[in-house]
Amino acid sequence: MSRYWSDIVHSLVPYVPGEQPALAKPVKLNTNENPYAPSPRVLEAIRHELGETGESLRRYPDPVAKRLRAAVAAHHGIRVEQVFVGNGSDEVLAHAFQALLKHDRPILFPDITYSFYPTYARLYEVEYRTVPLTGEFAIRIDDYLPRAGNEHGGVIFPNPNAPTGHALPLAEIERLVAANTETVVVIDEAYVDFGAESAIALIDRYPNLLVVHTTSKSRSLAGMRVGFAFGHADLIDALNRVKDSFNSYPLDRLAQAAATAAYEDDEWLRMTSARVIASRERLTTALAALGFEVVPSAANFVFAKHPAHDASAIAARLREKEIFVRHFNAPRVNQHLRISIGTDAECDTLVDALKGIVA
Ligand SMILES: Cc1ncc(COP(=O)(O)O)c(C=O)c1O
Repeated sequence: MSRYWSDIVHSLVPYVPGEQPALAKPVKLNTNENPYAPSPRVLEAIRHELGETGESLRRYPDPVAKRLRAAVAAHHGIRVEQVFVGNGSDEVLAHAFQALLKHDRPILFPDITYSFYPTYARLYEVEYRTVPLTGEFAIRIDDYLPRAGNEHGGVIFPNPNAPTGHALPLAEIERLVAANTETVVVIDEAYVDFGAESAIALIDRYPNLLVVHTTSKSRSLAGMRVGFAFGHADLIDALNRVKDSFNSYPLDRLAQAAATAAYEDDEWLRMTSARVIASRERLTTALAALGFEVVPSAANFVFAKHPAHDASAIAARLREKEIFVRHFNAPRVNQHLRISIGTDAECDTLVDALKGIVA
């Protein structure tokens, strides 16, 4: 707190990212990173970009990441004008809040969802209203449809949702986008490759739909910070206007090279995602055998609760063993743990530790 702070800084409630422990070999299941390395082509592309001397680093990177956007557009079968790229999907989401969700009525998002949304809303002074998930932690599309008494300035949620892992079918997303013609719907598909259907297929038909992706999860590039938005060229234009009023070069040369290579190796994505999905099912079974209630997940994490043990106490006991999971001290979910899917060996270490805690 300082008298030099602006009014808005006083009122911010910053997002708290999951811990990045400075340990040699933690079992790190707290930030939904991929347990597998990125495609070997990524390393090759970074080495190629650096060359013998790092000469290319003298120059600014391409401000519009044309090659990367072309590769991603080709991958999804869309036009390059329909692709925006930013420094992680967090930055893309922030621009969407500022450029597209800032309306004169409150925007809607679920009461249990990615906790960066309320932070961005406060930062950009976007009013919002939270909509309760059902008892089964599902998003009910009817609650978001525009009708008298439910006027809103836009909708944003992840599909699959975080931290629940619950996914909606594409037909439900389309029902919302088709009915909601007056404001923008943002579908944050950070985890889509682990078992949900992408709404990118809809962007040609609905000019009010923005779909956000990241390379941090299924493409194992959380350390590179590359995210995308896909939508009608007018929506992309709005994001570019904000970007060019903020930072012309959000993606460095190595990130652009790495992400382009990752999109050129779909086989790698399929192989590593299949392994993560198989481990998720295996971990779900093991947790259920220990008495945990596990929300069915289409993501690279599971959301689980033990009826007889306090979630924050379990997280603390695991932490003593250098096993990190995520606990949110928030209404409705403070008895749950969000556990990222690691390798089978990491999941086994977790399950063995949990046996000692909940037995
Ligand atoms: C739902 C959701 N959206 C977006 C992000 C941000 O991803 P990144 O900024 O790494 O692209 C996350 C990260 O955990 C997330 O859970």
